Amino acid sequence: GTTLGASAAEKGRYFGTAVAGFKLSDNTYTTILNREFNMVTAENEMKMNATEPQQGRFSFSAADQIVNHARSRGMSVRGHTLAWHSQQPGWMESMSGSALRQAMLNHVTQVATYYRGKIHSWDVVNEAFADGSSGARRDSNLQRTGNDWIEAAFRAADAADPNAKLCYNDYNTDNWTHAKTQAVYNMVRDFKSRGVPIDCVGFQSHFNNDSPYVSNYRTTLSSFAALGVDVQITELDIEGASANTYRSVVEDCLAVARCNGITVWGIRDSDSWRSYQNPLLFDGNGQKKAAYNAVLTAL
Ligand code: XIL
Repeated sequence: GTTLGASAAEKGRYFGTAVAGFKLSDNTYTTILNREFNMVTAENEMKMNATEPQQGRFSFSAADQIVNHARSRGMSVRGHTLAWHSQQPGWMESMSGSALRQAMLNHVTQVATYYRGKIHSWDVVNEAFADGSSGARRDSNLQRTGNDWIEAAFRAADAADPNAKLCYNDYNTDNWTHAKTQAVYNMVRDFKSRGVPIDCVGFQSHFNNDSPYVSNYRTTLSSFAALGVDVQITELDIEGASANTYRSVVEDCLAVARCNGITVWGIRDSDSWRSYQNPLLFDGNGQKKAAYNAVLTAL
């Protein structure tokens, strides 16, 4: 193929990007989006603070702009994200206990129901594990409602949209030897053994000098896949955008049958949440970088 999406499709994969809705009026941005990608993630518009700004009053117009842009052009959509400790609406940040648990489950149910049938994969729960060597859950208002909050969210999402793939998504879970990776692995193994409806694990894969790409990444992907879940690279960016590292990531995904696809976290370096790292495939002018050519060749 001559584009990322078409080449990935030839390998039975997708190639996606995060999209910021307010940039859809930028012609350079939208030209690249429509040409290169066949999967889209809303960078912020489907988060809890965007979709339920006031309790029980849902707001889908910003998300719908992205979903409709994608689906009307034959692109699929990753839903990001139904439950997360961050980017909660203010009303939820101040809640706790059973009221918070009920509000979280209602949010999952309402949003997943609204988009039923339109979402390829949902990040049902995002970033629930702690960094460092503890292997523990991250402390958060959601975690304090009880350790079963994650499985409760997955059951609610499954009831609302049984055909979407339901993913657990996190960062710094790329290195197989890290405690956080092992902790997520153990949770997924437990969920599969008890029939909790989980279909996939998302690896954000924000690679930088503090958490670099390591060659056991392929072992991580294949080990999770061996539990009976799909794996997806959901927010890829690489500090400095080494062409060799981008090539390795693509090769690792292609080497694992259950690796469904790769999403980069933005189009141009200037679109990146870490723009100072120049971590993406297109420069600020929308020109293809060496990393782009490495990815296209590896696909
Ligand atoms: C980031 C967005 O890119 C920023 O625009 C926003 O200010 C903060 O969130 N992990 C995630 C993403 O799951 O939702 C985050 O996106 C990046 C880290």
